[in-house]
Amino acid sequence: MYAEKRAAMGQIATEARDEALYLILSTLGLPLDSDPTVLDRSLSAAEYAGVSQVLRRRLVEHVPAAYITREAWLGGLRFYVDERVLIPRSYFVEILPTQVDPWLKAPGRVTRVADVCTGSGCLAILLARHFKKAKVDAVDLSPAALEVAAKNVKGHRLSGRVRLVESDLLLAAPAGRYDVILSNPPYEPSGHVDRLPEEFKREPRLALDGGPDGLDLVRRLIRQAKTRLKPGGILMIEVGGGRVAFDREFGRLEPHWFHTEDGSDCVCLIQAARLGVS
Ligand SMILES: C[S@@+](CC[C@H](N)C(=O)[O-])C[C@H]1O[C@@H](n2cnc3c(N)ncnc32)[C@H](O)[C@@H]1O
Repeated sequence: MYAEKRAAMGQIATEARDEALYLILSTLGLPLDSDPTVLDRSLSAAEYAGVSQVLRRRLVEHVPAAYITREAWLGGLRFYVDERVLIPRSYFVEILPTQVDPWLKAPGRVTRVADVCTGSGCLAILLARHFKKAKVDAVDLSPAALEVAAKNVKGHRLSGRVRLVESDLLLAAPAGRYDVILSNPPYEPSGHVDRLPEEFKREPRLALDGGPDGLDLVRRLIRQAKTRLKPGGILMIEVGGGRVAFDREFGRLEPHWFHTEDGSDCVCLIQAARLGVS
């Protein structure tokens, strides 16, 4: 087997060793938390063939690991994924459990939440589990992505509280105002998407491309949120590398930047009052 290009990391792991171990354990049907010493043995011919095929797909064909195993993990939960959706890796998983509630008057009484650009539905599901009394609208423009989201919502037994909505941002979302609007939109500048490694190009372009400076959808969502947030509500957006440009353009909205473990701090919160909602 000869891999012409290095395997790109960053979709499910940052270290190649971790990703290789994950792929081998899952191909052999071993628990993912197994000690690596479980592999200190010879493989049967069938096991060898299985592992070789998976490593070939990953290293030679550059298929992302999550598309090979058809699963991704976020916040300790397992999600079904395939080429119709971005592989879940949002910073919201760090922020939601501890940093959001202090911004809400009564987090326990949040009733309406929107996850705009839901993809696999992973964040809508985390939101429904966090805000236990809330109904969550999981919005995406891509019908194909919504099929994947539907599978995950059903798998996590949340069909009663998570509604799937096909819409361009909030344009066709059900009427009414939200306590919380959250979005991990496509935010890569188009030119950057053109130069991404093969693994990332296998993800839907619609999930990555945020226009010339990456902020096309962010701008539109901020405009829409003015009429879709309740007084006291909050808008939270992940903007990736667009933080400096965002601050230049929207600094007057006094965004709060959440802290993330890797120091990128690229998820912001804007209060409804700053958008003129009263
Ligand atoms: C970065 S992915 C995020 C997926 C998921 N929320 C996550 O964190 O893994 C962005 C998603 O936005 C969707 N999308 C792109 N343009 C959109 C639009 N105008 N309105 C709604 N969704 C859109 C894409 O189909 C994709 O599923």
